[in-house]
Amino acid sequence: MEKKEKRGSFTGQLGFVLAAAGSAVGVGNLWRFPYLAAKDGGGLFLLVYLVLVLTFGFTLLTSDITIGRKTKKSAILAYEIMHPKWKFLGILTFLVPVLIMTYYAVIGGWIAKYVVSFVTGHGFAAAEDGYFTGFITNPVESVVYAVIFMVLTSVIIFNGVEGGIEKCSRIIMPVLLLLIVAISIYSLTISHTGADGVRRTGLQGFLVYVTPDLHGLTLKKFMSILLDAMSQLFFSLSVSMGIMITYGSYVKKDVDLNKSIGQIEIFDTGVALLAGMAIIPAVFAFSGIDGMNAGPGLMFVSLPKVFASMGFIGNFVGAAFFIMAAFATLTSCISVLEAIVSNCMEIFHTTRKATTSVLTLVYLAASVVIALGYSLFYFEIRLPNMGPTQNGQLLDIMDYISNSVMMPFISLLSTILIGWIVGPDWIAGEIESSSESFRRKKLYYVMIRFVCPVIMAVLFVQSTGIMDRIF
Ligand code: PHE
Repeated sequence: MEKKEKRGSFTGQLGFVLAAAGSAVGVGNLWRFPYLAAKDGGGLFLLVYLVLVLTFGFTLLTSDITIGRKTKKSAILAYEIMHPKWKFLGILTFLVPVLIMTYYAVIGGWIAKYVVSFVTGHGFAAAEDGYFTGFITNPVESVVYAVIFMVLTSVIIFNGVEGGIEKCSRIIMPVLLLLIVAISIYSLTISHTGADGVRRTGLQGFLVYVTPDLHGLTLKKFMSILLDAMSQLFFSLSVSMGIMITYGSYVKKDVDLNKSIGQIEIFDTGVALLAGMAIIPAVFAFSGIDGMNAGPGLMFVSLPKVFASMGFIGNFVGAAFFIMAAFATLTSCISVLEAIVSNCMEIFHTTRKATTSVLTLVYLAASVVIALGYSLFYFEIRLPNMGPTQNGQLLDIMDYISNSVMMPFISLLSTILIGWIVGPDWIAGEIESSSESFRRKKLYYVMIRFVCPVIMAVLFVQSTGIMDRIF
């Protein structure tokens, strides 16, 4: 006879906020945010980003979490409950973590490799040219690390919402916060005289980070900063991919949603700002302005060089940094797998353990294939969001489809569904049932009905590369 498993839940507000922050804080905060800030005019990017968090971020996070708590279901069934004709949107949303999961453990594996290098005292080797490429193109090593990371993720999911996800987030998130604060304070104290004889300090680097650079700012450039900030926001808050719907569905009815959402926004943005404070001054002191133009290579190529230039202490700072990054990636990775497991359990009426076991096998295979995308299955493709000199591999294709194409499209449709079909009162009612008041309610209504649909449409068109052909 089929036994119905009791739906898991977080113990209370703190457990929920830490788990959701665990999902939100990831490589996006530690690596993507600082490199975008460096590229997009420092303080100017920070200002734009902050405004977007308080408006778009708030609206999308509120929608996802509230849909989850109100329906007590994950994406597929949640959208069906909202409106039977819109179940397709639930299925589309479900597909985002399905795709992301194929490569997230691979990135986790890269970070795990750096943790091992630094902890075993081989941090300086990581600073040598070709170290990163050597690792990812090694078919055995890259696969082994991806598999380890995948198994670790599965074990936590296997233990359920309270005993797995919440417990792990409660330990990891405070440690992560301490580490990032410590590293950013250290970063401000650095001073280094380069080969050119110029002495640069962390404090100067900090000013570069926070001062808005308005040099040669044109409307076109501003638009591109805006779009960078917007796509960073989606990725960073883990919205529009069903993850926050699933986590919201585990929140008890007496938890104040409005307050929790504010705290998740603060946690995620705070860590991103601190990551910039940790990385930009250090990179500036050791490599000057040019060092910051490393783009995606920042985390795995430039940073190890910075740690090596620090001398002996660099081993410790490097180890602390990569341990923190591994923690951040693990809590994000479990949220991706949980969203898939939870949807499957609801659709197939299977137990958590059975579902997790089957999905683990599937994703072990997928991770192996993606990890081999840099060796056995190597090819080059230029995706619409890439510059003329860049090329992508398997991992980039998965990332492009899920983050650049599907997420803005899903946000667009779901803001239309909430704003115009079921109506924002549907959301407000749930929030007001447990919060003292729905702060920023008017803002939410205006955003969900008017601003979000328009901007999401622009973002979606932009991601397809059509815009570049028009302008
Ligand atoms: N929010 C995470 C980050 O900022 C990334 C992430 C994306 C997590 C997708 C889960 C799913 O890095």
